[in-house]
Amino acid sequence: MSKYDFHHLKYGQSLPPTILTIFGATGDLSADYLIPALLHMDEHNLLPKTFKLVCVGRRPLEAKSYLDFILKKSHVIKKLSGAKKRQFLKYLIYYQGNFKEIKDFKNLTKILSDQDRPQHVCYNRLFYFATNPQQFESLTTILKQAGLLIACQAHERKVRVLVEKPFGSNLKSAQSLNKLLLSFFQEEQIYRIDHYAGKETVQNLMVLRFANSLFEPLWNNRFIDHVEISVLEKDGVGGRINFYDRTGAIKDFLQNHILQMLALIAMDEPYNLTAEFIRNEKLKVLQALETLTAEKLPLRLIKGQYESYAKEAGGKSKTETFFALKMYVNLPRWRGVPFYLRTGKRLSKKLTQISIHFREPIRCLFDGCAANVLTLQIQPNESVHLLINNKIPGFGIKLHHGNLDFSYEMAFKGEIPGAYERLLLDFMEGDQRLFIRSDEIEAAWKFVDSITESSLFKKLPLRFYKSGSNGPKESEEFMKKDTKKWWAK
Ligand code: BG6
Repeated sequence: MSKYDFHHLKYGQSLPPTILTIFGATGDLSADYLIPALLHMDEHNLLPKTFKLVCVGRRPLEAKSYLDFILKKSHVIKKLSGAKKRQFLKYLIYYQGNFKEIKDFKNLTKILSDQDRPQHVCYNRLFYFATNPQQFESLTTILKQAGLLIACQAHERKVRVLVEKPFGSNLKSAQSLNKLLLSFFQEEQIYRIDHYAGKETVQNLMVLRFANSLFEPLWNNRFIDHVEISVLEKDGVGGRINFYDRTGAIKDFLQNHILQMLALIAMDEPYNLTAEFIRNEKLKVLQALETLTAEKLPLRLIKGQYESYAKEAGGKSKTETFFALKMYVNLPRWRGVPFYLRTGKRLSKKLTQISIHFREPIRCLFDGCAANVLTLQIQPNESVHLLINNKIPGFGIKLHHGNLDFSYEMAFKGEIPGAYERLLLDFMEGDQRLFIRSDEIEAAWKFVDSITESSLFKKLPLRFYKSGSNGPKESEEFMKKDTKKWWAK
């Protein structure tokens, strides 16, 4: 084992017997994220010792042809040796079923129960909803009707459900999905995923803030001038155009990934590291997000669309593929500190970055003191940088602005586990720390609704931008008006 063999930091082999059923097993998410993560976990002995994977889809396939189908479809799996394939097939069951047919689900119940008997084990039943979000409600109901949620004999079987994003399309639909799920499950059984929470650098936010006495005393409006969260994407919408055109960048990114990162930046230190205490602190931030009224919205939001998007969407789409937003968190710690949030598709590069901009010194003794900036690069080069002032060697005093750098690549030799691997393991273990609670989801939607459900939202001009650019020029002007610049470029 090398010095940092991250895959051995958790011991999958000690996990209880688990049967993981994926609904939507032939879709893009399964091909590009879930199956690659499971294959990788298998390779590193992270799957439970007694494990079955049931992949449910509508195509007529069996285990072997399903795996071949995924290997062909996946943009992530490069190749798989015969031995690894054979090993994975030991766990794999493919089940062809229609999500609307109760009889198909009753057969599935039998398949799952049949696994228990010969080995005299009582598998934990884990259900992963990776289907089209419109099917989440009917899936929940049919699982219950088909008797899939029942414990076995005297043993206490753990039944858990993991729901992919988007969890609802506004506050009302998220509340209705929560209500339904909570009528069949306890909150402890429901895992609402946001894969950004599984990224190592996002997890590092809490450690950086609360394990270093250096930052926390300065983490407030006395010392922080503003915060930027930028998620730049190089790719366009690709094959997801139907989904994306109904969703847009604000619902696709702000409601979940960006607000989750914001909550981790803005929250107070939790009393301890249990899921409940962490989520309580995040919730306080999400509930304190400023409501964007009709007067504020035009001053705070820039919507953009890349030039070829409407054509890709087959006509006159008004969907935003970019947004820049200025908003406040109504908590004493953050009073008066603007948060600048931005994301867009088909930009010049893929880069997710958080930057905390400290105030300039009240009185600078020297010419040209720069404000300190703490930059956390979430991806692609996982790293932390602190911009400081130094003296340039030589006569006189001239300042140089340079970074103290910490790079994951330099510090940790070895592969960093992917977000889905981490989250799947937590799901199997029953660790909810990185998953979102019902009240968090609803608070995030309430804020997003104040933007997208406003009658003004559709009327705001759509600013066009070229593929490969940094977004619409209005987004640069937006920062200039506040005498600021986007830090992520
Ligand atoms: C998904 C969004 O949740 O995250 C996509 O729906 C986006 O639109 C993707 O491209 C980005 O994930 P990552 O891990 O590549 O940054």
